[in-house]
Amino acid sequence: MAMACSGHMPVEAAKPQPRTHFLACDSPSNSRKIFASSLHFLGKDPAPCRRFHASHIKNAPFARRSKLAVSRSDSIRDYSLEVVKSFIPELVAMAKPDPLKIMLSGAPASGKGTQCELITKKYGLVHIAAGDLLRAEVAAGSENGKRAKEYMEKGQLVPDEIVVMMVKERLLQSDSLENGWLLDGYPRSLSQATALQEFGLQADLFILLEVPEEILVERVVGRRLDPVTGRIYHLKYSPPETEEIAARLTRRFDDTEEKVKLRLRTHHQNVEAVLSMYKDITIKVNGDAPKENVFAQIDNALSKLLEQGKATSGSLAA
Ligand code: AP5
Repeated sequence: MAMACSGHMPVEAAKPQPRTHFLACDSPSNSRKIFASSLHFLGKDPAPCRRFHASHIKNAPFARRSKLAVSRSDSIRDYSLEVVKSFIPELVAMAKPDPLKIMLSGAPASGKGTQCELITKKYGLVHIAAGDLLRAEVAAGSENGKRAKEYMEKGQLVPDEIVVMMVKERLLQSDSLENGWLLDGYPRSLSQATALQEFGLQADLFILLEVPEEILVERVVGRRLDPVTGRIYHLKYSPPETEEIAARLTRRFDDTEEKVKLRLRTHHQNVEAVLSMYKDITIKVNGDAPKENVFAQIDNALSKLLEQGKATSGSLAA
């Protein structure tokens, strides 16, 4: 039985005359997803349409309107099958590859933050670091921040009820939907990975940085942060460029040899379970090399992904 997708109504059985609902959408990328959904709908497979509804439409800030989807009305409009078909060339013209959605994982100090700086510079993805979001809560002195700090001090995972919604909300902001995202240090447990899946948030690639343990401790102890630019330095491997920067560098409260050992233990307890969720999209990258060489490995994988994306949207347009 054919099904229809709507913004305000639950998915429902179609009437004998096949009809679908087209929605106001907030961005070209959402238009593309509606396009993909409508193609599946025309193929009488409602599942992608339902998934799209669950993950995007309910949360979309209906700000910028697609000229195609709603030209005269802000409400949902019904279109006959023939009209839907006539939309398709326009939708194809709007189609471009989906933005990248990447997860970057690895032990403490394996270089996640350093690589994220390089990736965002080249690919313009929105960098979402669970640790940074938590430190912002700690700095703001919020209730969540106070609770989170107790766990961070002990090198343990902050409870899901704090972390999961925080990350989800950031992933669903319009810049992340529009430009793609780079998730740093999340998920770190099976329950976090499962929660993402339930929200319909799926990554294209899971990158695991591999670095021998003895090197990690040295990296943590020598790490310094620039509070003005947010850049990550290391006293030996990536020293500050000027005296002025050197004078203002700060150290993280959990960057001691004692605490990194606790963080490493937590990492080892959880990493296999997380990897098991993403084995089909995982690449392992040798992180024990100069940061430019590590980035070259990641860059290579991301370029290939983008090429594949272009090929897919090109074949839709053909
Ligand atoms: P988080 O802030 O994520 O810390 P982490 O995972 O321990 O990782 P780091 O930020 O320490 O290291 P990194 O891999 O980013 O390395 P970096 O690039 O800085 O989490 C902190 C805490 O928050 C956790 O312990 C937990 O309590 C909580 N938390 C976070 N996420 C959570 C979640 N999902 N659920 C629950 N709780 C959560 O590099 C390190 C140093 O090495 C730098 O000095 C850098 O310059 C240097 N370096 C980097 N790359 C190289 C290289 N190739 N060669 C030489 N030096 C290098």
